[in-house]
Amino acid sequence: MSSEAQSRPAGRDAGKGLRLAVLASGTGTNLQALLDQVHGHDGVEIVAVVSNKPDARALARARAAQIPTAVFPLAEYGGDRSARDLAIGAWLREHDVELVVLAGYMQILSEGFLKLFPNAVINVHPALLPAFQGLDAVGQALRYGVKVFGVTVHFVDSGVDSGPVIAQRAVALPDARTEDDVFAVLHGIEHELLPEAVRLYARGALQLDPAGGRRVLIAS
Ligand code: GRF
Repeated sequence: MSSEAQSRPAGRDAGKGLRLAVLASGTGTNLQALLDQVHGHDGVEIVAVVSNKPDARALARARAAQIPTAVFPLAEYGGDRSARDLAIGAWLREHDVELVVLAGYMQILSEGFLKLFPNAVINVHPALLPAFQGLDAVGQALRYGVKVFGVTVHFVDSGVDSGPVIAQRAVALPDARTEDDVFAVLHGIEHELLPEAVRLYARGALQLDPAGGRRVLIAS
C-alpha cells in the first residue's frame, strides 16, 4: 500500500457509540429529522447543538430534546471567524464530539476547525453538487431553468460545498416555479438522506477510496 493510501481514513470502529454535534442557523427541520430518526438509536447520540444565531428555531428543538446548546455569534469575536470557530471546536471537544453535522449552518468553517475534526464534518446541500454551490442554491437552479433538482450530502473540506460526495438524490420538477415549490420536495429528500448518511458513518461504512481520488466508498 502506498503511503498516500495509508494516510487516507478508513471507516470508524463501528463497535463504539457515535457522539455527534449539529450546527444549524435556521428552522432546524434537518436537526429534527436527526432527532427523530437517529438520536438514541444504535448508540448514536446528539450531544451538542450549536448556532450562530440566538433566535434560531433549531435551538428550541434541541432544548425540547434536552440537548445542550450554545450560541457563538461572530460579532462576539470581533468578526474573527477563526477565533469563533476554534471556540466552537473547543466546546464540542468538551462534549467529546466525534462527528459534526452541518444542517443549514449558514457560515463557512475555517481550516482550524476542520483540522479538529478531520473527515468528520458533513453537510447537506439542496442541489446536485457540483452544480449550484454556495448560497441560494435553489434560487440559482430556478434561474438557470433546470428541470431536475436534488440534494447532496457530502464531507466538508476547506472549499464551499466542494468536499467528497456521500449521497445524492435527484428529482424531476419540470413545472417548479418558486423556491417553495422546490423546497416542498427537497426537504423530504433531505430528511431521508442526511439521517441515512449519519447511520452509514456510525456503522463505519463510509471510507474515502484507499486507491485515491474523491470517491466515498460505501460498504454494504
Ligand atoms: C436545508 O435546505 C439545507 O439543505 C440547507 O439549509 C436548509 C436548512 O433547513 N443547507 P432546516 O433549517 O434544516 O430546516
